[in-house]
Amino acid sequence: MRATDIESDLNDVLVTEEQILAKLDEIAARVAADYEGKDLLLVGVLKGAVMVMADFARALPTLVPMDWMAVSSYGAGTKSSGVVQIRKDLDTDLTGKHVLIVEDIIDSGLTLSWLLDNFASRGAASIEVFALLRKPEAAKVHVECKYVGFDIPTDFVVGYGLDYDERYRNLRDVAVLAPHVYS
Ligand code: IMP
Ligand code: MG
Repeated sequence: MRATDIESDLNDVLVTEEQILAKLDEIAARVAADYEGKDLLLVGVLKGAVMVMADFARALPTLVPMDWMAVSSYGAGTKSSGVVQIRKDLDTDLTGKHVLIVEDIIDSGLTLSWLLDNFASRGAASIEVFALLRKPEAAKVHVECKYVGFDIPTDFVVGYGLDYDERYRNLRDVAVLAPHVYS
């Protein structure tokens, strides 16, 4: 589904699918070079990171394992609660692994900052973050993010894995949700 299919639910289209895929190729090339000869593990944060993980992992020129973590932070609202709960933990032992966390978006940064703390004691050789989107003006805590796709304004966005109340994840583009949808 493209943004043009649900125009009345959306305001601006911030990033198109074409722009996302081009950016993923660019970042995949950087990651491949940075992790050459290293034991890389991609960790995706469900469910928002499903699309970016699928396309990013396939843009890499090497075999790479993927693992998933499910945490809750937003519920059905549009503001981060800061309360993070693990709903599904990793299946992989991180000892000696070079972990790259793949995230859809860094908004307040609270979820990732919590996740980084949680991972710190698991014996990984290194932990870095790749976020497709980042809202710099919404940051409540600083999160070191080595790879960033696009910096966007603080508006609530949907698409490419990002949802509002479990909807719009299968929209191919990233767009600002029209306020009439949630108010
Ligand atoms: P943070 O803890 O505020 O950085 O946000 C963490 C999670 O909230 C992200 O991984 C997303 O799943 C979700 N989120 C943040 N901003 C948005 C948005 O604009 N649209 C949809 N989901 C969002
Ligand atoms: Mg979400």
